[in-house]
Amino acid sequence: MTDSTATLIRNGRVITASDDYVADVLLQGGIVHTIGQAIDVGPDVRVVDATGLYVLPGGVDTHVHLENVIGPTITADTFASGTKAAAFGGTTTIVDFALQTERDSPLGAIARAQRSAESQVNVDYSLHVIVTRVDEQVLKDVRYAMHHEGVSSFKMFMAYPGVMMADDASIFRMLRQVGADGGMVALHAENGTVIDLLIKEALEAGHTAPRYHALTRPSLMEGEATHRGIRLAELANAPIYFVHVSSNDALKHIVSARAEGIPVFAETCPHYLLFDDSVYDNEDFETAKYVMTPPLRKPDDQKHLWRALRYDDLQVIATDHCPFCMKADHFGLRSSKLRGTKSFAEIPNGAPGIETRLVSLFDIGVVQGKLSLNRFVELTATTPAKLFGLFPKKGTIAVGSDADVVLFNPAVSQTIHAKHLHGNCDHTLLEGRSLQGRVEKVFLRGNLIVDGPDWHGRAGMGRFVPRGQVQAF
Ligand code: URP
Ligand code: ZN
Ligand code: ZN
Repeated sequence: MTDSTATLIRNGRVITASDDYVADVLLQGGIVHTIGQAIDVGPDVRVVDATGLYVLPGGVDTHVHLENVIGPTITADTFASGTKAAAFGGTTTIVDFALQTERDSPLGAIARAQRSAESQVNVDYSLHVIVTRVDEQVLKDVRYAMHHEGVSSFKMFMAYPGVMMADDASIFRMLRQVGADGGMVALHAENGTVIDLLIKEALEAGHTAPRYHALTRPSLMEGEATHRGIRLAELANAPIYFVHVSSNDALKHIVSARAEGIPVFAETCPHYLLFDDSVYDNEDFETAKYVMTPPLRKPDDQKHLWRALRYDDLQVIATDHCPFCMKADHFGLRSSKLRGTKSFAEIPNGAPGIETRLVSLFDIGVVQGKLSLNRFVELTATTPAKLFGLFPKKGTIAVGSDADVVLFNPAVSQTIHAKHLHGNCDHTLLEGRSLQGRVEKVFLRGNLIVDGPDWHGRAGMGRFVPRGQVQAF
């Protein structure tokens, strides 16, 4: 099937960030062509009966690490495996990272990531550039990337000294320029140098088990860096976006800055809502599965995250899909948690989640009454598309939007097992968990790529999506 094959989705319940109605949706020429009642079509149009199903915009996951080289490690999913997993989970657009190295510029990083992605991607994609070093030339390249390459967001780290951490003045310079140009700086907010000291002291005391990862990354240091980032953005008169917010210590600064009218935006990730720090109460190496940054927090933090999701102090739920295997199956030890059997500090940070985002949030959010259906769509598709310049091409179902559509069955449940998922990671944090809801069919620009358990996509059919300015005000 190609873009030229039209599909009529008949009688589904169309849900966007603002609407909820039963209609027919005609996908034609790669876009949503018509939305109406009892649309009449010829025999050459494929008709899909969606009675009883939700018709959702394809998910937009703006925090994904595929084939990312982080220090001596590489994430276990390739662009091919990760985007196939995304598709099966109902996500049709991802934003990955292009890392500026010591050797190249932001433009070199974009070109390198695109070369690698081009022949592999199964869904549409874009890139944030991770900027690790700022000088006049880098700022020129950043401006060029914004205006000519369709890359309008840049991630910077206040953590990982010596690997990716940028100093405050560099972050401020980026905020000032990117903000003036209508783009977004996304910040990983943790006080990296204090955390490094705590890690060193823990290791000197003989504390090597995975649980010490969490104990050496206190939420107060996430809060401190969040506060610092907000003040830098305020001085720069720029919007700012905080990735993977995990704690109320960080959230409270975001809430009060937004109340002051400062354009602060933030995401959390499903794992902070699904699990809490009780998983670290042991000395077992299995706990390495939960070594992600920031670590899991307290049940009280979850309560605050849910409240912020409801009242729009958090605007996005992205996965931070950063898979590393428990064994050494993909890319050997480079992509394995086994690197850290002797020291928690060597365990690659990150957890998988790209395929389970929508269904897990539907279950713990919508089914359990914490999120409305509209809010669920807004958090997982519409607002990420708006904040990162993809809307209305992506993130909604409207006439003229890309025909990225998910047919979602709310009435069935499924039990999650890693062996049934489509990425390279050998485990899922949700192993054995029963969840309500299932992705039935996925269309990418009108192409049926997922049909129940069957795969009709093709590596390389995903496209790079040039992005525009932040649409948040
Ligand atoms: O543990 C995580 N989140 N690893 C990925 C890198 C990052 O900080 O986002
Ligand atoms: Zn991060
Ligand atoms: Zn990340």
